[in-house]
Amino acid sequence: MIVGAQWGDEGKGKIIDVLAERAAVVARYQGGSNAGHTVLVGNEEFKFRLLPSGVLNEDALCVLGNGVVIEPEVLCGELDALQARGRTGAGLRISGNAHLVMPWHRLLDGARELRLGDLRIGTTRRGIGPAYADKVARTGIRVQDLLDEKILRAKVSTALDIENDVLEHVHGLERLDPATTADEVLAFAPRLRPYVADTSLLIARALDRHELVLCEGAQGTLLDVDHGTYPFVTSSNPIAGGACVGLGIGPTRISAVIGVAKAYLTRVGEGPFPSEAEPAAAEALRTAGGEFGTVTGRPRRCGWLDAVALRFAARVNGLTELVVTKLDVLSMLDEIPVCTAYRLADGTVTRDFPAHQSDFHHASPVLEVTQGWRRAIDDVRNADDLPPQARAYLELIEREVGVPVTLVGVGQRRDQILALPGTESAVGVVAL
Ligand code: IMP
Repeated sequence: MIVGAQWGDEGKGKIIDVLAERAAVVARYQGGSNAGHTVLVGNEEFKFRLLPSGVLNEDALCVLGNGVVIEPEVLCGELDALQARGRTGAGLRISGNAHLVMPWHRLLDGARELRLGDLRIGTTRRGIGPAYADKVARTGIRVQDLLDEKILRAKVSTALDIENDVLEHVHGLERLDPATTADEVLAFAPRLRPYVADTSLLIARALDRHELVLCEGAQGTLLDVDHGTYPFVTSSNPIAGGACVGLGIGPTRISAVIGVAKAYLTRVGEGPFPSEAEPAAAEALRTAGGEFGTVTGRPRRCGWLDAVALRFAARVNGLTELVVTKLDVLSMLDEIPVCTAYRLADGTVTRDFPAHQSDFHHASPVLEVTQGWRRAIDDVRNADDLPPQARAYLELIEREVGVPVTLVGVGQRRDQILALPGTESAVGVVAL
């Protein structure tokens, strides 16, 4: 299982792409087109929002599990783009139980954000929250409904009966015509039909054959709707437990949980961020790290590695190892601050992530300053050749989080992921 240990955008896509070479199945378990994975293969850049990052491994089955919310137009667009570049995408399998993001979900997402004004969440406006809300309210429309025109038309009609009133009378938007809306969605059905499968069953069969199944989390721990920085979260469960629910696998079948963390920290959208850097330092990180949202293009807020949050991620995910990405971005710094504890409003200092939002909102970072290495490391191919200060930085992370760091990223390409000596990743040392 591979999970984001921060607020998303940790570089999971690149890691999954590399590990997927050994996998029989790569499976996404939550989120939708709010996610954005960038994978660089040679000089070719691939950007995915819905397709699992593992889709570039043509030998693996690539699952969109029941926990994912799917916007048919985006999925078909990604398949087209993939096929235009000579890949087949033939391994794709879509759970019939996954919910669809419908046109009104996107409209409502935007309208609600607008109405919230200063209290907005800063969503990607892809309709994710409203789609999950309908799922839980039991009024959602699922992938399997695409396979039966009569059912789909009836469900769209029933949903729009209510949603049109909300669109018109609450938000002052135009009503959607049920027949046209159903036509638009049904247009994607023939394209998606061949990929629909019982994905829980096919994962179970792969596990029975002792094959490697990689569960791919989107977003990150701090965006989890139950355990993240609510309400500034996404509407699904990116944490490891979410994979059991979002794919239909029992927890006893999980052998390892790999957390991916950037060597510093970013956040898109609103909400507290204790280790957020001063504007000049944040700008330097943003520029060096190319920190702009894959989906929305928004500049990401940037700050220092937060060990308090990472300890929390280790706890709620049961991390067995950590992968640290983008270490090269810190190469320009003389000194690198790391947040090791929070000072709360009443002056107490804690190493534990606050359980209540007002404590977190008022937490200020206790920063420990470590020495930088001041030389480029993107050409390093063997972790032994990393500067001593860079190795010390990784050791500090291990010490603070209590989880071994097994892989480190020093650049965007596949060959810039280094295996650390003395550790062994659950998926084996990656041969690059
Ligand atoms: P939503 O998922 O579009 O509802 O957005 C809710 C919050 O999650 C916002 O703060 C988004 O910026 C954030 N978010 C959603 N997806 C991602 C992601 O893939 N990376 C980083 N932040 C994300």
